[in-house]
Amino acid sequence: MKKILFASSETHPLIKTGGLADVAGSLPIALTNLGQDVRVIMPNYQGIKNCEPGRYLCTVRVNNCDVNLLETHLPGSNVAVWLVDYPPFFNHPGNPYTDENGNPWPDIGDRFALFCRIVTEVAMDRAYLNWKPDVVHCNDWQTGLVPALLSLEVAKPATVFTIHNMAYQGVFPANTYTLLNLPGQLWHHDGLEYHGMLSFIKGGLSYSDWITTVSPTYAHEIQTPEFGYGLEGLLAHRQHTLSGIINGIDTNVWNPETDQQIVQTYNRDTLNKKVKNKTALQKRLSLPIAPDQPLLGLIGRLVDQKGIDLVLNCLKEMTTLPLQFALLGSGDKSIQVRLQDFARLYPDKISITIGYDEKLAHQIEAGSDMFLMPSRFEPCGLNQMYSQRYGTLPIVRKTGGLADTVVDALPETIKNGTASGLVFKDATPGALLETIKRGMVLHANRPLWEQLQRNAMNKDFSWENSANHYLALYREI
Ligand code: ADP
Ligand code: GLC
Repeated sequence: MKKILFASSETHPLIKTGGLADVAGSLPIALTNLGQDVRVIMPNYQGIKNCEPGRYLCTVRVNNCDVNLLETHLPGSNVAVWLVDYPPFFNHPGNPYTDENGNPWPDIGDRFALFCRIVTEVAMDRAYLNWKPDVVHCNDWQTGLVPALLSLEVAKPATVFTIHNMAYQGVFPANTYTLLNLPGQLWHHDGLEYHGMLSFIKGGLSYSDWITTVSPTYAHEIQTPEFGYGLEGLLAHRQHTLSGIINGIDTNVWNPETDQQIVQTYNRDTLNKKVKNKTALQKRLSLPIAPDQPLLGLIGRLVDQKGIDLVLNCLKEMTTLPLQFALLGSGDKSIQVRLQDFARLYPDKISITIGYDEKLAHQIEAGSDMFLMPSRFEPCGLNQMYSQRYGTLPIVRKTGGLADTVVDALPETIKNGTASGLVFKDATPGALLETIKRGMVLHANRPLWEQLQRNAMNKDFSWENSANHYLALYREI
């Protein structure tokens, strides 16, 4: 049995802005089910919900700050979550990275540096918890200083650093290094310094024993300038200690057979019932009830990564086709405004919901016929897997985890029963539109479409497989 400390800046259902939270809320449970001893550690944000109140464990002093550790659990499991409680940094409204108005926290570097110091203390069993992990599993830049700080220790646990997104690196001006009072030995070209600035992610990339990312394709992509954002050289240098492990999904939360958030549950043998969810969704979103018209869904952060510009550039032409489009998301203000303008012009074709709404997310997954995910890059992506499980065929760009989890409906894949969605290559509105039209042609052929839906629903995206890969890795390092 391995003792694993899993460090993350967000964890579902306690607090979530994206897929990292889904992973941090389900991989530790999957590892526990494989007999491992896993503890999650994250900051104690004001916005934390859906868990028992934290029980006081101890106080740890780092860098002149007295920080409390509280203990709660992942709901429905016995996996302990250690909450790093330091009210001046974490007791604010908003999310882990921005205030209520979407402005990044100005002291975000201080916040996560403190978090990293505490993770390091806990990892070295200096927090009086009488528990020392064999492995510290860090995730994204917010935990990047942990492998770096641990590199200065004797008898340190092994470290894994998982990249969920290379686009976010935690880079700060050089003087932040001094202000954060970080050890001088780590400030050099092969350490935390990045072109004269402080890079949190480099701590993970330079000092961890092993690097993983969340799909095999993305593991290759990040070794190229297009996806490596200046760190491709370092990643290529570490290619022998770098691997891609595809994320699983929480098959209890995302299960059309038992989903309490949708009006009608269904499975691959009762696909005819799925339309009730479509009707309910059309009603909820004030779209015309049109059972036969393809309804295309999209859920996600409205940022460049997600290829929303491609969708925006197709929307006008999409309104000339017999289809409907329902989007749920939030992010970039200008994207939000442009989308809402379209919805105002074409209320019987396009529905735009700005905000974060888990229930509606389930209803869109269940009620749509197809799901758009035209991402410019996508380390893994979860919604294309949720969609397949709900018999809602994803239309995805051939990149990262999308390329690894969706099989394009082509004559040979239809014949051999593997086709589970539609895939396109070029990041252009034209390529997306062509693929939507291709989807509409397939959709019009009912028996074929249902076959594709069943292919998709038959796929196994559960965590067990991926958790076994992580476990093998922990054992190896
Ligand atoms: P990323 O982590 O890059 O945002 P993923 O596909 O890995 O992308 O995960 C996104 C997760 O966040 C999914 O579980 C998705 O359903 C959820 N999500 C994103 N935006 C919203 C929203 N506006 N409302 C509800 N859920 C959302
Ligand atoms: C990131 C990526 C997304 C991935 C998620 C969980 O936010 O953008 O592709 O699914 O992390 O690993």
